[in-house]
Amino acid sequence: MKVCVIGTGYVGLVTGVCLAHIGHDVICIDNNEEKVKLMSAGQSPIYEPGLSELMQESIASQKIHFTSDIAAGVEHGEVLFIAVGTPSLPDGQSDTRYVEAVARSIGSHLKSGYKVIVNKSTVPIGSGDWVRMIVLDGIANQDNGGSSKGLAEFDIVSNPEFLREGAAVYDTFNPDRIVLGSSSSRALQIMQDLYTNIVDRKFADDVTLPPVPVVVTDINSAEMIKYAANAFLAVKISFINEVANICDRVGADVVEVGRGIGLDSRIGKRFLQAGIGWGGSCFAKDVSALIHTAEDYGYATQILKAAVEVNQQQRILVVEKLQQALKILKGKTIGLLGLTFKPDTDDMRDAPALTLIDQLNRLGAKVKAFDPIVSQSGIRDGFSNVIVETDADRLADGCDALVLVTEWAQFRNLDFAKMAKLMNHAILIDARNFCDRTQLEAAGFKYIGIGR
Ligand SMILES: NC(=O)c1ccc[n+]([C@@H]2O[C@H](COP(=O)([O-])OP(=O)(O)OC[C@H]3O[C@@H](n4cnc5c(N)ncnc54)[C@H](O)[C@@H]3O)[C@@H](O)[C@H]2O)c1
Repeated sequence: MKVCVIGTGYVGLVTGVCLAHIGHDVICIDNNEEKVKLMSAGQSPIYEPGLSELMQESIASQKIHFTSDIAAGVEHGEVLFIAVGTPSLPDGQSDTRYVEAVARSIGSHLKSGYKVIVNKSTVPIGSGDWVRMIVLDGIANQDNGGSSKGLAEFDIVSNPEFLREGAAVYDTFNPDRIVLGSSSSRALQIMQDLYTNIVDRKFADDVTLPPVPVVVTDINSAEMIKYAANAFLAVKISFINEVANICDRVGADVVEVGRGIGLDSRIGKRFLQAGIGWGGSCFAKDVSALIHTAEDYGYATQILKAAVEVNQQQRILVVEKLQQALKILKGKTIGLLGLTFKPDTDDMRDAPALTLIDQLNRLGAKVKAFDPIVSQSGIRDGFSNVIVETDADRLADGCDALVLVTEWAQFRNLDFAKMAKLMNHAILIDARNFCDRTQLEAAGFKYIGIGR
């Protein structure tokens, strides 16, 4: 099937590459020429495990092409994915200007024939009809005086994305479900055909599993499913963080508590790890957007607002723990193990490390960091207030405390005994409850977890 993916970020590039890998004929469009050049040369502009390899394979088999020419993409694709960013505006609502620009552009290039236009970007509820209106506007304003009107046929589908950064390729081939929202049975059939091989687990790690559930629904419900899913996960994390804060006071261990409640099949063990709070490009913006949408319809959310508040406090908690351990932070050196918002990604959007760096700088501490991806890639954008070291020993050297901010697997194998000797004070705040306390204490560290 001929596919066009517009926007080649974490979602668009992974979607395009994976669809090409399963045999579709894909054109990926981005208006960032630098990215297009890089991708055409077989290099991924983002770090995502397994992505570069699949991308190079699909380029070699000519199943994928990259361009900034949206007219060519619109002409090529029977299915046109919109996968551009929808960041937050200062008031919390979703900034849909990139989606709008793409929808208008699609409209201005639609000629005769039938297309399925798919919202894969996370968009506010009601965006299906809004995108339809903008595409129609684009058609009406074509240079040919709108003569494609009546000839260009299209339907809108909402197909929200649930991939996890750091496991995006895996998640695309092994999804928990596929959600398709549309009022057009023709469009829905095309989408089901597009995903057949994924639904049938042809590219799954475990091909013996039953087919992937496909949730077919109306557009508004599909859009709501995406927001509700992210909001639920954010609430679950804030919940366990609140429990951790009570554990800290009453002398219970939140790791044990999380295990004890997570084994209850009604609760489930995932997203019950207490720590420095959620971050990343999606949770904060999607929860804010849902709060904002609810307000637009006269409903004041309470649980969602509380989850956001708990999360904000949780980021500051690490600073409070440093203050308790070191008293005055002015003139102290704090080392951060990890910068990215989670392991196996290079994404720094809304990373808790950024809040920590700001707070520590404000209090007069010097901040150093080591992150397996950031240190290696040489990315330095936005890191003016932090010294990025090239390895963990250099990080530890001269530090008054370390904070484990991101649970990179390789942090388990650090030479903590050597690091402790290099530090002024061997203190480790484990902001992810990731390390083994006994091992750290044997290495000479004073170990401080969250809620333990
Ligand atoms: N990142 C995730 O883990 C994730 C997961 C699920 C859903 N989503 C949603 O998917 C959407 C995309 O997120 P992302 O993280 O991939 O974003 P991103 O910022 O990584 O990528 C967006 C891309 O779109 C390109 N772009 C912007 N305007 C364009 C235009 N007019 N024409 C062509 N390209 C254009 C940008 O250059 C960029 O490469 C968002 O709505 C997000 O909420 C993201």
